[in-house]
Amino acid sequence: MPEPIRFYFRNAIQSVADSAPTRTVLQHLREDVQQCGTKEGCAEGDCGACTVVIGELQDGQLHLKAVNSCIQFLPTLDGKALFTIEDLQQADGALHPVQQALLECHGSQCGFCTPGFAMSLWSLYLEQEQAGSPAPLARKTIDNALSGNLCRCTGYRPIIEAAQRMGQLPPVAFAREPVEAALHAIQRETSFEYEAGGRHFFAPRSVAQLAQLRRTHPQATLLAGSTDIGLWVTKQLRELGDIIYLGRVDALKQVAERDGQLEIGAGATLNDAYRALCRHYQLELGELWQRFASQPIRNAGTLGGNLANGSPIGDSMPWLIALGAQIVLSGADDSGQLAERTLALEDFYLGYQKKDLAPHEFVAAVRVPLPLAESGNGVRRVFRTYKLAKRFDQDISAVCAAFCLTLDGGHIREARIAFGGMAATPQRARRAEAKLQGQSWSEATLQAAMAALADDYAPLSDMRASSIYRMTTAQNLLRRFWLETRPDAPLTRDQLNVFAASGADGAGHAVLERGHG
Ligand SMILES: Cc1cc2nc3c(=O)[nH]c(=O)nc-3n(C[C@H](O)[C@H](O)[C@H](O)COP(=O)(O)OP(=O)(O)OC[C@H]3O[C@@H](n4cnc5c(N)ncnc54)[C@H](O)[C@@H]3O)c2cc1C
Ligand code: FES
Ligand code: FES
Repeated sequence: MPEPIRFYFRNAIQSVADSAPTRTVLQHLREDVQQCGTKEGCAEGDCGACTVVIGELQDGQLHLKAVNSCIQFLPTLDGKALFTIEDLQQADGALHPVQQALLECHGSQCGFCTPGFAMSLWSLYLEQEQAGSPAPLARKTIDNALSGNLCRCTGYRPIIEAAQRMGQLPPVAFAREPVEAALHAIQRETSFEYEAGGRHFFAPRSVAQLAQLRRTHPQATLLAGSTDIGLWVTKQLRELGDIIYLGRVDALKQVAERDGQLEIGAGATLNDAYRALCRHYQLELGELWQRFASQPIRNAGTLGGNLANGSPIGDSMPWLIALGAQIVLSGADDSGQLAERTLALEDFYLGYQKKDLAPHEFVAAVRVPLPLAESGNGVRRVFRTYKLAKRFDQDISAVCAAFCLTLDGGHIREARIAFGGMAATPQRARRAEAKLQGQSWSEATLQAAMAALADDYAPLSDMRASSIYRMTTAQNLLRRFWLETRPDAPLTRDQLNVFAASGADGAGHAVLERGHG
């Protein structure tokens, strides 16, 4: 039975019944309720002018995070709270410390980007408040919080100074209890069904409800964090038809360790997934986590969405394939029973935008092997992933490489290499792997594997990179992996970044990419 969307906004429960299911939160704010503080810059999640803060209950507690309102659909707000720049000013008219700091540090000129920056900073302010750790904030923390915001006139220094200043001003506490109480009152036990203009939006609460809906609506679009799909609507003007939203299925957000693997539910956000992964693979994945899109995109987007979308330049697939991860697919069979299928992630990708996923199935989880335990018998696994893009953050890869070797002393027991940006799908480099397999991990073996990469891939030239750039950097990244993991005298990532910045690597070879990579 269709029902209205209910969400907490401006200290009250709002009810919306007649908006198209793909109306964005930003369109609703600016055009339906004339709350125009939130701006539209790009309408594709890139500039951050539209940043708002969303609150939702997790285990009964309010969790707040910044997201891009331009690519979030209004019905996804059901059961949640929405905060915008207008919520920052105090009841007596005083500015919030975030606003006051931006003012004092001259962090705004034309002001177009300012509401977005203020909301990202507010989200950081709330995080600090929750953690009980006031200023001073580390520069890296500030950069991370502002990674999704662009300013074209002020320059970033005054805004960063404002981020440092806000915690020095008299604090303003956020009243969580009334929001939590309001949200508790609008939670739904079972699926939410919304309808407008003949289009349905379903939000199941359990995996069983999701499987049932998928069975009865195989043509419906599965919607997770909307960081790919939002752009289909705002940029490609696509009609999505019916939608099944995964964001209310708590069971899909679970992350658990079992049998030497980390099982990450498809609905875990990119931030939650990479946070859990970095507990085991900080050296290997820490930089990629930080460089994956931006903070608001990682707050909304899911690991399952990244894998299901399966873009040839997506960042999670190469390293997952190199590690030998498995994808878990689920769905209701003909008798309505839940059935699961598990396959190696590399086998999920059949061709450009073609996956081994039946119409009644969905991605339920991914299983990631954990690091090998220290055994004392000389067997160890070395694993690295490298992203090449024009900007440090908020940029899609031109090439993304992942290398994983199981070494027995100096001998290669198993080699797994996967690349993004080199073929129509994320793909293993089987010929290069064959040159490594069973060999000693040496300069000569490296040379043979680098040459074999040219037989593995015939990359395209496009706006991100030329074919020659892609192949040359792919080979150089393999060399870099060698330099970091060679058994005799490995170099650290920091040492290599210094060499890269000076134009040559540790062995005196030219490095094409400066800085990170
Ligand atoms: C500004 C910006 C920057 C970005 N930067 C990067 C980047 O640096 N690296 C990168 O890899 N990507 C990047 N992306 C792409 C995007 O953020 C990721 O692909 C993200 O992980 C998608 O997840 P989502 O939950 O938002 O998926 P959605 O947009 O909701 O869905 C994506 C696709 O997956 C399907 N889907 C989602 N969940 C499931 C499921 N459980 N089962 C079956 N199908 C499912 C949907 O039907 C759809 O086809 C960027 C996007 C934007 C807008
Ligand atoms: S308007 Fe640019 S990120 Fe939303
Ligand atoms: S102040 Fe003009 S874009 Fe930032």
